[in-house]
Parts: sequence; structure tokens; C-alpha cells
Amino acid sequence: MQSPIAEFPVCSWQASVEPALQERAQEILEGGGVLYFPRLGFELQEEEQRFLADTWSDGKSKNIYLRGRERNLRGFAGSEDDALALAALIERYAAGARRLLDELLPAYAGSLEPSNTSFRPVEAAGRAQSWRHDDTRLHTDAFPSKPTHGLRILRVFCNVNPAGRPRQWRVGEPFPDMARRFLPRLPPYRPWLATAMHKLGITKRRRSEYDHLMLHLHDAQKADADYQKDAPQGNMPFPAGSTWICFSDQVLHAVMGGQYLLEQTLHLPVAALRDPGRSPLGILEKMLGRTLV
Ligand SMILES: [Fe+2]
Repeated sequence: MQSPIAEFPVCSWQASVEPALQERAQEILEGGGVLYFPRLGFELQEEEQRFLADTWSDGKSKNIYLRGRERNLRGFAGSEDDALALAALIERYAAGARRLLDELLPAYAGSLEPSNTSFRPVEAAGRAQSWRHDDTRLHTDAFPSKPTHGLRILRVFCNVNPAGRPRQWRVGEPFPDMARRFLPRLPPYRPWLATAMHKLGITKRRRSEYDHLMLHLHDAQKADADYQKDAPQGNMPFPAGSTWICFSDQVLHAVMGGQYLLEQTLHLPVAALRDPGRSPLGILEKMLGRTLV
């Protein structure tokens, strides 16, 4: 399998990026690759070092996070002052990530919609309660309560581990190969069920057939122990002080270990892509021969 990880020499959140590199970044990203910045770390200020402890998590949520443009910190256990200080750090990361994306991927600049920004102080290994929530299994991101109707999920990750520990990922085979394998096994879409789940408040909006398929692809990958073991894949230890970007609805990934991560999620309409046909929506529609949203 050809490595989906592509190194970029950008070392600053304020860097300017040459047009040829912008072109390459978009091409790799839309093709299902991971943009990797081995020397792009995010600096914590002296008084922010105290947040590098897992005791700041409220224990209920995996992550401490800011939702979209909201200001109040979720998943946090601490005083009001501490919450404000950590929120400021997370907002600074959100601004840095946005600045980098606007420079690196100018074609998306007007279309990117920021979603959650998270700080992940809890060790990633060994925290899953069920196979469905077990992110040490290869999967593509799809969330049961949040139908996207094809909106892309773009994520910017930065390992801020102070002890130099890497964030251990496994990266799987190309999305079309995975989809070809699992599509025939998925249960059929039931529009009445999607309507009922929306009316009952189980989903934030009505699940489209696309969302139904993406959710069941996520589950099918994680549930298949042989697939987890035998599917084409590679290990990628993202070092402390490095950053990486991918469409996590497209790149098969598993988090095997690591602690202290910053992460920014953004959504992007399929229409903003250079080639919507290479998106999960485009790929699945082509395989099934019908529209899915
Ligand atoms: Fe994931």
C-alpha cells in the first residue's frame, strides 16, 4: 500500500505557503491522504503547562472542548478561572488552525465552517467501553446524532505531549477499497426510521441515506476483527510537536495511544471540493448508481 502520509515543510501557524504547495495539499487531501507537518508544534505558555494533566477532564466526556462558536468549555472539571484560561488556549489553537488552513487551502477558505475544538488530556489507549466507541479500531468518522448530508469532516490535530510521546495511529486502506468490501453487507436505508429518529430528537436532523451508509460503514469496519487485523494498513507515530490534517470521514484511522492532543474540526460542503466525485458521497453514489442526499 502506498503511504497516505505526505510531509509538508510548514513550521509556523503564520507561514505563507507557495501556490505549488497549496495545490499539492488540496490534491493529497481530496485523494484521501494525510498532510503531515513534522515540525509544526503548538506552544503552551508557562502558566498553561498546568493543563497537561488528565485530572481536568470531568470523566464523562472523552475530551474537553468548545462547541463551534460557543465560549463555554465542556467536559471540564475545574474553577471558573481555570476554565477561562483553558478556553483561551483552545481558542488560540482554533485561530492558529484556521489561519493555517486559509493559507494552505485557499480554495476552501470561504466555505469552511468551524465545529468543535478539543483538548484531549486523557490517555487514548484503553479507554473504550464498547467496540462501537473503540477508536483503537480502524474506522472512518461518522456520528450517530449528527447527520452531515455529505458535509466533509476536516480535522487538524496537534500532539502537545510534554514528555515527547507520539500519538500512535494506524492508517488503513483507501476509502473506495473499504466501501467495496462492506457496502454489500449493510442493512437497507429506511426513510420512515430516519424521520422517526429525527422527530424523537435522537438525531439533530433527519438522517439521509448517505448518513445511514457512513454510520454502518463505521460500525462494519470496527466490528470486523479479521478486517482490523488483516486489512492493508500502516503504523504512524505522530511525534510530539507535530501536526497533521485529514478528512476523517475518508481516511481510515485508529488511535492506538498517546496523551495530550489539540484538535480542530471543520465542515466543508462537497461542492467546495475540486473533485466532489472523490469524496465519500461521490464514491458511494457512483458505486450505488443513485443520489444519497
Ligand atoms: Fe475517528
